[in-house]
Amino acid sequence: MAKNVGILAMDIYFPTTCIKQEVLEAHDGASKGKYTIGLGQDCMAFCTEVEDVISMSLTVITSLLEKYGIDPKQIGRLEVGSETVIDKSKSIKTFLMQIFEKSGNTDIEGVDSTNACYGGTAALFNCVNWVESSSWDGRYGLVVCTDSAVYAEGPARPTGGAAAIAILIGPDAPISFESRFRGSYMAHAYDFYKPNLASEYPVVDGKLSQTCYLVAVDSCYKQLCKKYEKLEGKQFSLSDAEYFVFHSPYNKLVQKSFARLLYNDFLRNASSVDEVAKEKLEPFSTLSGDESYQSRDLEKVTQQLAKSLYDAKVQPTTLVPKQVGNMYTASLYAAFASLIHNKHNTLAGQRVILFSYGSGLTATMFSLKFQEGQHPFSLSNIAAVMDVKKKLESRNEFLPEKFVETMKLMEHRYGGKDFVTSKDTSLLLPGTFYLTEVDSMYRRFYAQKTKDSATGTQCENGSIANGH
Ligand code: ACO
Repeated sequence: MAKNVGILAMDIYFPTTCIKQEVLEAHDGASKGKYTIGLGQDCMAFCTEVEDVISMSLTVITSLLEKYGIDPKQIGRLEVGSETVIDKSKSIKTFLMQIFEKSGNTDIEGVDSTNACYGGTAALFNCVNWVESSSWDGRYGLVVCTDSAVYAEGPARPTGGAAAIAILIGPDAPISFESRFRGSYMAHAYDFYKPNLASEYPVVDGKLSQTCYLVAVDSCYKQLCKKYEKLEGKQFSLSDAEYFVFHSPYNKLVQKSFARLLYNDFLRNASSVDEVAKEKLEPFSTLSGDESYQSRDLEKVTQQLAKSLYDAKVQPTTLVPKQVGNMYTASLYAAFASLIHNKHNTLAGQRVILFSYGSGLTATMFSLKFQEGQHPFSLSNIAAVMDVKKKLESRNEFLPEKFVETMKLMEHRYGGKDFVTSKDTSLLLPGTFYLTEVDSMYRRFYAQKTKDSATGTQCENGSIANGH
């Protein structure tokens, strides 16, 4: 049986097109600070008409295979997590098979997993389970989390974002799963859903989604603690993991979620809670669950008490989510990528807890353990390949009018057929895939911007779809 199964390699892609939150805030007539301090967001990436979840996935997979020197024939399972519906039947995974067909590898299991922002975690678990199972054939699993998060005009719009992340799965990994330490919470809720198939936009009950998220945090943490305590014979608390990584719709919710964990430790009388915290939290010890979610005082006190722990255990995970926005399925893994980017030199030997949330709702909290690993599957090489800093610096900030115009065009194009895109690749980095056409049969065609194209003129590397 494969040992230490987990993440061998990662790469991340987000569009170079973005809008500053303070600019959007002013344009939307929101009070100053609402998006930047209130939601805690800095910037938001979005796809223009030449990019979508398929092009972003083609870009990130191609990049991962190339940068880690992986032959496409070495992939035995490909799982995609996404909630961005392009086709109600044909999976995104099948589009991505174009990369593997070229090398003669069509023996690849896996399809798409969908449940709001949780699909990527389901895809990840499927790949890990496959490598640990009797049907594993010795090849790698590959997970792609890809989403374009867009909202109609209104209060939810600043909580959009876009990205694709590719994660290579195999044995002897520098980031391995501690699968026994895991807690899930799954229930029926109408907090965020997409019943209108003619629109890319979700229906959102914003306040309910915040409460559902926090209920899921509490419940998953309780389950994880219970399992840990049963298996290890000692209490689990915040001090038992070096870092906590959250699905990040917007940063303020991450701050509140971490503070809830401290409150949970207090209620469970965990030894990690100091005397000052105990005293300050005592007035809240008899609140019912519902009361605790409504209490602004509790929220304030726990956030204050958790501040220094948040700075140490969560802040290093927040860079990409604050800069790129909610990337739905990719959001948790973009936060995880931020941690590797910031701390790769000191992670070996440490434990990290991840919290995955998908509206509707599904949630899991799970544990990973780091080792340095061996090149190319080492923590330092993963950080070097992802090159988050350079990607963030290579972006193009749009003015709000141009952003709104882009959103309108995308609304019009969603579900459409019989159009060619501008094929304007001037804002794309070399090597990026882009959408060229959707024909009268709704078939989608993509091309890749050539690697040596420094100027951003329209350079095609030859079309990748169906002989175009
Ligand atoms: N300066 C500083 N802070 C401000 C300001 C200001 N000028 N104005 C408002 N704020 C604060 C508010 O006090 C609030 O903070 P708090 O939560 O600590 O009280 C925060 O900014 C947001 O303001 P609200 O009035 O609560 O925002 P609104 O209700 O208009 O929208 C919401 C926020 C509900 C998150 C909306 O953006 C939304 O629906 N987003 C999509 C749903 C979502 O992301 N849900 C999360 C989980 S589900 C998922 O991942 C999709």
